[in-house]
Amino acid sequence: MRALANQVAVVTGGAPGIGRSLATQLVAHGARVVIADTNGPLADEVAGALGSRVRAERVDVRDAEAVRRLVEETVAREGGIDLLFNNAGIAVFADARDTSLDDWNRQIDVNLRGVVHGIAAAYPLMVRRGRGHIVNTASAAGLLPIPTNIAYVATKHAVVGLSLTLRAEARHFGVRVSVVCPGVIDTPIVQSAKIVGPTRETVLADPLLRLRSPDKLAAAILRGVGRNRAIIPFTPEVRVLWALHRLSPRLTVAILSRIYKRSPFFRPALS
Ligand code: NAI
Repeated sequence: MRALANQVAVVTGGAPGIGRSLATQLVAHGARVVIADTNGPLADEVAGALGSRVRAERVDVRDAEAVRRLVEETVAREGGIDLLFNNAGIAVFADARDTSLDDWNRQIDVNLRGVVHGIAAAYPLMVRRGRGHIVNTASAAGLLPIPTNIAYVATKHAVVGLSLTLRAEARHFGVRVSVVCPGVIDTPIVQSAKIVGPTRETVLADPLLRLRSPDKLAAAILRGVGRNRAIIPFTPEVRVLWALHRLSPRLTVAILSRIYKRSPFFRPALS
C-alpha cells in the first residue's frame, strides 16, 4: 500500500460506514483525504478524529454544481485528485408493489446521478493529467437480481455498467476505474434504510442476513484498487452467487424468487 502515500482521495458519503472505514485506512496508508457528505457535523467529527490530513466538506452528490466545486477546490488546494470514491448511497427495502415513484427517484438521484456527477466533474481532469482512479461503490445488487430491492438494484446495475464502460475508455488515458460490489455490511445504512412492510427487527432477524465488517471491506477495496481490479466483489457468498448467475440466470432468479416468497415482504396478490 506504499502507493497510497501522499495520494489525494475524495470519499463521498465518507462520514459513517464504508466511507469512514475507507477514509480511516487511506489516512493510515499516508493518503490525504476529503470526506464529502450531507451529514456535515458527522463528517467534521470524523475528519477531526482522523487528523490534519483529512478535511470534511458538506456536499450533496445530487447537486452536480456542488460536486464540481468540491472537485475543483480539491484540485486547487491539493494539486489534483488521485482517487475518487463515489460511495454515497441510500437504500429502500420494499416489495416492488410498495416501491413508490418517490422511492425510485430518490435512489436514482443519489445512487446513480451522484456517481455520474462525480465522474462528470473529475474524469476530464484525470484524463488531462494522465492519471487517477475512480472507484464506484455499487453492491452485490449491481450483479444480481435482489427481490425487495428493485430500485436499488436498478441503480447499482447501472453503476456497474457505467463503471465498466468508463474503464474500457479510460485505460487509453492512464485513468483507472473499479466498481465495488459488497454483500450486506454492518453500517448505519442498516438502520437508516427505508423499509416498507415488515418491521426493521423482523428484517434484521433474517438468518440469511450476515452483516460483515466495513473495515474488512475497506481493506479488500484498497487491495482491489492496488491491483486495479475491474470489479471488487466482497464476501464469498457474493462471489458464489455471482458465478452461478453468470452460468445460469434462470437458476439464480429461481433461487432468489424462493427466498423472496419466504421473506416477510411477501404477501399474496389479493391481500
Ligand atoms: P451509510 O448510510 O453508513 O453511509 C452513507 C453515507 O452517504 C451517509 O453518511 C449519508 O449521509 C451519505 N449520503 C447520503 N446521501 C447523500 C448525498 N445525497 N450526498 C452526499 N452524501 C450522502 O451507508 P454505507 O453502508 O456505508 O454505504 C456506502 C455505499 O455502499 C452506498 O453506496 C451503499 O449503497 C453501498 N453498499 C452498502 C452495503 C451495506 O450493506 N451497508 C452493501 C452494498 C453496497
